[in-house]
Amino acid sequence: MALRDHPLEFARPDDARALAAMSRDLIETGLGWEYRPQRIARMIADPDAVALVAREGALVSGFALMSFGDERAHLALLAVRPAHRRRGIARSLVAWLVESAAAAGAVSVHVELRAGNHPAHALYADAGFTETLRVPGYYRGRETAVRMVRVLRAPGQVLPAWRPPTLDRR
Ligand SMILES: CC(C)(COP(=O)(O)OP(=O)(O)OC[C@H]1O[C@@H](n2cnc3c(N)ncnc32)[C@H](O)[C@@H]1OP(=O)(O)O)[C@@H](O)C(=O)NCCC(=O)NCCS
Repeated sequence: MALRDHPLEFARPDDARALAAMSRDLIETGLGWEYRPQRIARMIADPDAVALVAREGALVSGFALMSFGDERAHLALLAVRPAHRRRGIARSLVAWLVESAAAAGAVSVHVELRAGNHPAHALYADAGFTETLRVPGYYRGRETAVRMVRVLRAPGQVLPAWRPPTLDRR
């Protein structure tokens, strides 16, 4: 499905409550609730982050939140409501974020997911992410995390450290 099949928009400040509830119910299940409305509201307002939503009428059917570092982008949250799954919404959200990270000059996009989250693993693999690492106990000491990365370009050339020219003392 093409991006145009799922019109996406930037999240608005008043979406914070709905996105936080989706994070609690669909992403953080059984792990507590870190992404509460205030935290999500700060991320929506953060110029170094992007919060994207898919809407069906007034309802947010899916959303994704990504933050940008110097050369790395981090996809922190992604969820689609159960009744709206397998229609390509997450694929559209991830494709848009990956394109925008590439346009912003990021080297790579990173994501962590629970090791048992096969739908998300399949989604990210389909979007060109590859697994880099497994971190046992990452989630509250209980669950293993899988780290995946989508590399967008080669890292910049590392310039040799500057040294003062040697003085000729002859
Ligand atoms: C993972 C999740 C975001 C997928 O959303 P979605 O909108 O249903 O995904 P899409 O329809 O865009 O799927 C794109 C591709 O991902 C893979 N995929 C998605 N769900 C899958 C599933 N349940 N089983 C196997 N593959 C799946 C498929 O390759 C799919 O392509 P296809 O439908 O042409 O086969 C959704 O299941 C979800 O919100 N899960 C709970 C929260 C979560 O796990 N978030 C990600 C970790 S933070």
